[in-house]
Amino acid sequence: MTDEGPEKEAPASPHASRLTPNGTGDPVDGVLAAFREEAGRGVSSRSEFERLKGKYVGREKGLVPALFAGIRNLPSQERGAFGSRANAAKAEIEESIARLAAEVELREIEARRQAQAVDVTLPGRRPVAGGFHPVTIVRRRIEQIFLRMGYSIADGPELENDRHNFEMLNFPPDHPARDSQDTFFVDRKAKSPLLLRTHTSPVQIRELSRRGAPLRVIAPGRVYRNESVDATHAAVFNQVEALVVERGISMADLKGTFEEFFTAFFGRETKVRFIPTFFPFVEPGADVAAHCPFCAGKGCPKCKHSGWLELAGSGAVHPNVLKACGVDPEEYTGFAFGMGLDRVALLLYEFPDLRLLLDGDERFLSQFTNEA
Ligand code: PHE
Repeated sequence: MTDEGPEKEAPASPHASRLTPNGTGDPVDGVLAAFREEAGRGVSSRSEFERLKGKYVGREKGLVPALFAGIRNLPSQERGAFGSRANAAKAEIEESIARLAAEVELREIEARRQAQAVDVTLPGRRPVAGGFHPVTIVRRRIEQIFLRMGYSIADGPELENDRHNFEMLNFPPDHPARDSQDTFFVDRKAKSPLLLRTHTSPVQIRELSRRGAPLRVIAPGRVYRNESVDATHAAVFNQVEALVVERGISMADLKGTFEEFFTAFFGRETKVRFIPTFFPFVEPGADVAAHCPFCAGKGCPKCKHSGWLELAGSGAVHPNVLKACGVDPEEYTGFAFGMGLDRVALLLYEFPDLRLLLDGDERFLSQFTNEA
């Protein structure tokens, strides 16, 4: 029993005074009636429930424990009856509180469930899908066209030796033609100096040496030259080169192949013209220009108003190259060509600067559809 609270008011019946507001009536009935009324209104939250529970059955100040504490102030003949009524009231209150506790618990579980619920009607979040690089798209389209023409696709090392990159391609040491492919040497002291390949022609050399004639391959891949970099030149770029070695191959086959290829690639009939030029590994050699597919040869900014696009270097394979690969030039002849993939991508997609292909900028790269 505490010595604070209504008890200090010292009413007529000490135990009744703290149980009923006006100090009158039966304390057990008073507590029970008050509880029934409050519990009947229900509880809307855990804190309201805790307050109700504390008020009635709280060990320190609960009204029910107070009933029992008051027993000792009663005349002894009243104690038994009072005690059993108090017990009955206590049982009812505790049972009701247990029910309310279960209700509060249920309501909380339900609220949590709703908060965590997945709204299946919400639209999904689309994951950002990666895409092919424009050079990859162009490479795959070219590969498809040549696969259809019976070519296989060959691959080779980017770190090459001088023998495959130059010597077997009929560039003797110190030949001035080497100046046209300013080279990144990696190890000049090696028996055959190591370098970053300047073209994918060494892949053809490896294929022809290994597989012999007849042969029909394309070699797409990354190449390196010590160029000063600007909007139309990069030190790292991509090529596709082709090599055909069979009996009776001539420049006419080369021309027909180009016409076929350009027509398939640009989707319209394309004329081809050859301009004589020099590469050590071909004889004769030619730069290949296609009738500009964007203006049908009328002249536009893409062809610099000439009506022609220069797209590849080419020629009939030099007998020295065939010999270096163990193929008899009296029996076999061939043609070869090479072109820059980056330049083709630039023409096709009309972007202003080759360096965009190397920046890895998602804003640029995400503009290309995966059409290959
Ligand atoms: N390999 C040459 C270059 O990269 C291109 C080429 C290939 C020219 C085949 C002729 C024949 O410049």
